[in-house]
Amino acid sequence: MVSPHISLMPLPTFFYPPAHPLSGALMDWGMANRMSRIIKPESGKTVMLAVDHGYFMGPTTGLENIKKTVDPLLPYADTLMLTRGALRNYVSPDVDVPIVLRVSGGTSILNKNLLHEGIVASIEDAIRLNVAGVAFSIMVGAEFERDTILAFTEVVDEAQAYGIPVIAVTAVGKEMVRDARYMSLASRIAAELGASIVKTYYVDGFKEVVETCPVPIVIAGGKKLPEPEALKMASGAIKSGAAGVDMGRNIFQSSDPVAMIRAVRAVVHDNAKPADAFALFQNLKKKGKGKSKK
Ligand code: R5P
Repeated sequence: MVSPHISLMPLPTFFYPPAHPLSGALMDWGMANRMSRIIKPESGKTVMLAVDHGYFMGPTTGLENIKKTVDPLLPYADTLMLTRGALRNYVSPDVDVPIVLRVSGGTSILNKNLLHEGIVASIEDAIRLNVAGVAFSIMVGAEFERDTILAFTEVVDEAQAYGIPVIAVTAVGKEMVRDARYMSLASRIAAELGASIVKTYYVDGFKEVVETCPVPIVIAGGKKLPEPEALKMASGAIKSGAAGVDMGRNIFQSSDPVAMIRAVRAVVHDNAKPADAFALFQNLKKKGKGKSKK
């Protein structure tokens, strides 16, 4: 006999995502709640705004004053990814945007071993900052891959204890080939070692990367591209099954960042074709309406 406590009815959608999409394993409430703050239940997608570049690049173009850049973009960002220093110094605590905290670091662009990263912020501090998730970069294939992977799993263990999702950033060194085989390898390793979400780069054959990774994938934008190309890349990722983007430079270095994030939203949440999203971008830019509300 079926226990009266076990409901055979499907869970209502407002519990999304109650269960893992592939295994069906139920998530604890806190983890499910944080995941649904990052990946929006209405579309199952997310537009994460990445402004964490300063942790290894210093004041990069467009982020000289993070507050000035980010404030107009916040109404259109599903999450804001940044460091604890940027959060405390540039972002008002009354904002209503889920925070994804960068918790790895330790090297700069001046170091030959760029991205030989360790833990730079504790889970206690992440909790103090009321984050929705934490992000950690792993360097699969680098000489020092073991250091980054072991530190990543330490963060997963600590974050898991408090129901905090960890986003694994599959960083790529200058000498590494960015192809589907490599991205698939790095993404799968990240998921197997406990990532709740994997952030990786868009490459040809991206469907293979998505299909061999059991957790949601978001793409980084990478270096600034002309707007039509960046929108095409986002669309390719969505069509291949990605859960969204975690985009930085292609938004905040755009000739109209607000128009650009709105165009990216159209691709990610509404499945807009890249050409239509670019037309939206141009239209918003021309009318100077990029700044109106969602
Ligand atoms: C890289 O490790 C950082 O997380 C970046 O913030 C990230 O790659 C996203 O920014 P972008 O779209 O500029 O590549």
